[in-house]
Amino acid sequence: MTLPTRVKIVDVGPRDGLQNEKQAVPASVKIELVHRLQAAGLKAIEVTSFVSPKWVPQMADNAEVMAGITRLPDVHYSVLTPNLQGFEASRASRPDEIVVFGAASETFSQRNINCSITESIERFAPVVAAARAAGIPVRGAMSCVVGCPYEGEVAPERVGYLAGLMKGIGVQHIGVADTIGVGTPLKVQRAMAATLKHFGLDEVSGHFHDTYGQALANTLACLEMGIWQFDASVAGLGGCPYAKGATGNVATEDLVYMLHGMGIATGIDLNRLIDAGEYISTQLQRRPNSRVAVALLSQRAG
Ligand code: HMG
Ligand code: MG
Repeated sequence: MTLPTRVKIVDVGPRDGLQNEKQAVPASVKIELVHRLQAAGLKAIEVTSFVSPKWVPQMADNAEVMAGITRLPDVHYSVLTPNLQGFEASRASRPDEIVVFGAASETFSQRNINCSITESIERFAPVVAAARAAGIPVRGAMSCVVGCPYEGEVAPERVGYLAGLMKGIGVQHIGVADTIGVGTPLKVQRAMAATLKHFGLDEVSGHFHDTYGQALANTLACLEMGIWQFDASVAGLGGCPYAKGATGNVATEDLVYMLHGMGIATGIDLNRLIDAGEYISTQLQRRPNSRVAVALLSQRAG
């Protein structure tokens, strides 16, 4: 078993984490969160999404947040763009990467982006073409790769089918997402294997929500396959507005702690990451949803 020696983490907290917040989170707080994440050493941050403000009101300040960030040259700032309208709206913000997002489950596709899987690919194709013509890298995200809140278990063949469609329209990197965190290691490995039939090892990342406490185990199962890129959310923020009961992504703090403990480099300063998580948790008036953060914060308190 050869594990990667280095892992790239994309912190999706400002987007995936905050999109589901019922309370209004001011743009200034989102901007400060991004600043603290980059100060902690994150080199890739998913900042916001250019989606309909009627569907996801929390992301309505997308352009304001992007404009407010003091960018570092070696940090990549990505945004979600579900259609050409979103892509065009994102252009002024100069994203370093855009993300089109589909689902392996037909019902989730309808609930999340209001169209079928086939229609979603038809919508994404011109977005991908326009982004690539403008020199902007394109990531695809596949939701519900193990289970769907409406359809139950999702077969790996469904994942492979969507991965093939994404590859076919020119998506360069694919995120394999367990949206509702129901996956367990062998099931996640099967979803990954189905994806790896269409994308190379360096073009695939894991995106694991931690609803059932399986995200770190699922991550380890992927590391064993050589996958070295993962999304995580500082303080375990989040959930999906179209996946009832789903909680946030694996906490970045927990992921970093595990990786460092295994001798795998991330470039992230865990202490400063804890600070970033404490900042946003205080703003939201709750404790970080990270076992590692809670443990280290109580140690600090002495
Ligand atoms: P639609 O209603 O089918 O779109 O929504 P439409 O083209 O028919 O347009 C209807 C209205 O929406 C129009 O406005 C458009 O202008 C507007 P009206 O004329 O009624 O005033 N509109 C837009 N406004 C702003 N930005 C846009 C945009 N597009 C249309 N880009 C749409 C289709 C995709 C827009 C809608 O369903 C939507 O916004 N959905 C939000 C989905 C979302 O953000 N979900 C959460 C993120 S995905 C996720 O969390 C999963 C992930 O983390 C991986 C995982 O864990 O699984 C990535
Ligand atoms: Mg997600």
